Amino acid sequence: MRKKVVAGNWKCNTTLQEGVELAIAVNQLVAEKGAKDVVVVLGTPFTHLTSVISAIDSKRIGVAAQNCAAEAKGAFTGEVSASMVKSTGAEYVILGHSERREYYGETSEILNKKLALALENSLTPIYCCGEALAIRNAGTQNEYVINQLKETVFQLSAEDFKKIIIAYEPIWAIGTGVTATTEQAQEMHKALREAVAEKFGQEIANETSILYGGSCNAKNANELFANPDVDGGLIGGASLKAEDFIQIINAY
Ligand code: PGA
Repeated sequence: MRKKVVAGNWKCNTTLQEGVELAIAVNQLVAEKGAKDVVVVLGTPFTHLTSVISAIDSKRIGVAAQNCAAEAKGAFTGEVSASMVKSTGAEYVILGHSERREYYGETSEILNKKLALALENSLTPIYCCGEALAIRNAGTQNEYVINQLKETVFQLSAEDFKKIIIAYEPIWAIGTGVTATTEQAQEMHKALREAVAEKFGQEIANETSILYGGSCNAKNANELFANPDVDGGLIGGASLKAEDFIQIINAY
């Protein structure tokens, strides 16, 4: 059975101390209220990884970096490699977030290098895709997002693809308070699963976790997660409040 995943993406928020406090609060709520069959992940800044991992029960909560370098190591000042991320004890890495694509020029070519390095270092990529508003308005969103997959994760072997988690995040819904309707989310997730089936076969498609992201919160998670092809969420703003995040975790 495919996994249900609720991953927080803290983005460039929280000092180290605030981040550890938040992780402790989430850890406590998960211990008290449980997380059913949901895989819980905290996507923290690089600087927080080790401390957050020490502060939580790693049997119940996984930790993700929000990026990794496109090179294995060397003279790349300021970069953090996949092996460095792995060495902190983190198990996941968010790749291809639209903010990275838009503000830091991440192309499919760069993402393919990052995906390869993440997989080589046994990190699970949470691979983000999604369309801008103009593409949605033009009605070409399915084609656009499937093409993002074709240029990147569909280049992987079936063995490697099976290790990936996909996060569909319409750019117009990220941090805007505008959420995709459940119909819009389901329609896209179904189209993505069909594209995976066409590329890698139905069995792999059935096992692929496809998360929704974009203004998913404690109020709307229930409805979004009720869709048959929505396997959880990648949560930005609402993951910064432990009380909201636990409600999303338990929204199934
Ligand atoms: P949001 O961000 O939940 O704040 O819209 C989601 C994301 O960018 O991953």
